[in-house]
Amino acid sequence: MSNPKRAVLWSDAFLDEEQRSLAESARDFARREIAPAAARIDETHEFPREIVRQMGQMGYLGMMVDPEWNGSGLGAMAYSAVLEEIAVECASTAVIMSVNNSLACHPIQAFGNDEQKERWLKPLATGEKLGCYCLSEPGSGSDAAAMKTRAVRRGNGWVLNGVKNFITSGNEAEVAVVFAIVDPSKGHRGIGAFVVERERPGYSVGKLEKKLGINGSSTAQIVLENVEVPGENLLGGEFDGFKVAMNTLDGGRIGIAGQAVGIARAALEEATAYSLVREAFGRPIAELGAIQVHLADMATKTDAARLLMRQAAALKDAGAPFSRQAAQAKLFAAETCMEVATRGIQVLGGYGYTKDYAMERHFRDAKITEIYEGTSEIQRIVIARAVAKELG
Ligand code: CAA
Repeated sequence: MSNPKRAVLWSDAFLDEEQRSLAESARDFARREIAPAAARIDETHEFPREIVRQMGQMGYLGMMVDPEWNGSGLGAMAYSAVLEEIAVECASTAVIMSVNNSLACHPIQAFGNDEQKERWLKPLATGEKLGCYCLSEPGSGSDAAAMKTRAVRRGNGWVLNGVKNFITSGNEAEVAVVFAIVDPSKGHRGIGAFVVERERPGYSVGKLEKKLGINGSSTAQIVLENVEVPGENLLGGEFDGFKVAMNTLDGGRIGIAGQAVGIARAALEEATAYSLVREAFGRPIAELGAIQVHLADMATKTDAARLLMRQAAALKDAGAPFSRQAAQAKLFAAETCMEVATRGIQVLGGYGYTKDYAMERHFRDAKITEIYEGTSEIQRIVIARAVAKELG
C-alpha cells in the first residue's frame, strides 16, 4: 500500500494573526523543502546544510533575537509554532533550529554586551554561523554543576581545558557557548560561561555519536585543550555561568516541547490517514473501536501538549516566570510524542515496523525528547521544587 496523503491535525488556538500566518508559511516551507529530504538524511546521517541555509534566510534561526541584532524580533509563541511545523517533517532539522535559537542566540542576547552581540549574535541570528551549547560532559549530564571543564585566568583572558559531550550541531557549529569551572571551591556558584570560536587553537571536534534517531543532526564531543580566550569572551560575570545555563535551558525546553509536539502530530496524522484507507473486517480500521481508542488518545494528548507549550510561551512572552511551565510542557510533550509514536506503529501494524512508512522514524526520533535539555526525571525535579516553592 502506498503512503496515504497526510491530513493536518493542528490547532491555531491562542495564536494571533501574525503567528498563525507564520506557522502556515513554515508548514508550506517544511512540506516543500524539508519533507523530501527527511528520510534521506535519516538514512545517510547527512547534515541538511542547504535547508539550514534557507532557514537562515527565512529568519528561523534567530527568531527571538531583536532586529537590531539581525533577528526576527518575535516571541516564544511564534517560535514554538514554527518549530512544530519544522518538526512535523523532520525532527533532526527541528533540533538544529532549536539549539541555534534557544541555546546559542539566547544566552548571548540575554547576558552578552553590545560588543559580544555585534560579534556573535548577528551572524548566529542570520544563520551565517551556527551555534552550539556545551554544558554536558562525559561524567556529568543531569547533575550539570558536577562538570570538570576548567577555565583558568591567564592575564586578561582564560585558558579552557575539558571535554564536552553530546553537543548538538557540534560537528558544524562555529560558535560555542561553553560552561567551565572558574573556582572549584564554589560549586555551582564558581562556574563561568564563555563564547568559544571554533577556529581557536586547541578547540576540536572529537567523537561523533552514532544514534538511535535524529540522525540528520550531529551529536559530537567538543575537546578543549589549552584553548585561550580573551576576557571579552566571558558572558556575564565570571561566576554567572550556572545561572546562564539554567536560564537558557528554561527557554530551550519550550523549543524541545515544540519539537516533540511536531513529532507527535506527524505520527498522529500518519496513523489517522492510514486508518482511513486500510480496511479490516469489511471496513476502514478508523471505524473499529480498538483503533478509535488509539486515535482519540493520540489526538487529545497531542493537543494537550501543544496547549502546555503555548502556556509556557505566552508566559515567557509576557515577561512572567515560566520555568515550571516550560518544564511541564517539555515533560508532557516528550512523553506524549513517545506514546503517540508507539501507538502510531501499533495502528499501522506490520507496516508501521517497516521503513516503507515514516512512523518508525518518528518512533526513533521521539525518544531523545525525553532525554536532552533535561531528562523527564529532571523536569519532574524542577516542577516539584517549583510548586513547593510557590506554595511554601
Ligand atoms: N534560572 C536561573 N537560575 C536558576 C534556575 C533557573 N531556571 N534554576 C536554578 N537556578 C539557580 C538557583 O537559584 C541556584 O542559585 P543560588 O544557589 O545562587 O541561589 C542555583 O541555580 C542552583 O540551583 P539548584 O540548587 O536547583 O541546583 P541543582 O544542582 O540542585 O540542580 C537542576 C538543578 C535543575 C537539576 C539542573 O542541574 C538541571 O537542570 N540539570 C539538567 C541539565 C540539563 O538540562 N542538561 C541538558 C544538556 S543541554 C542539551 O541537551 C543541549 C543539546 O545539545 C540539545
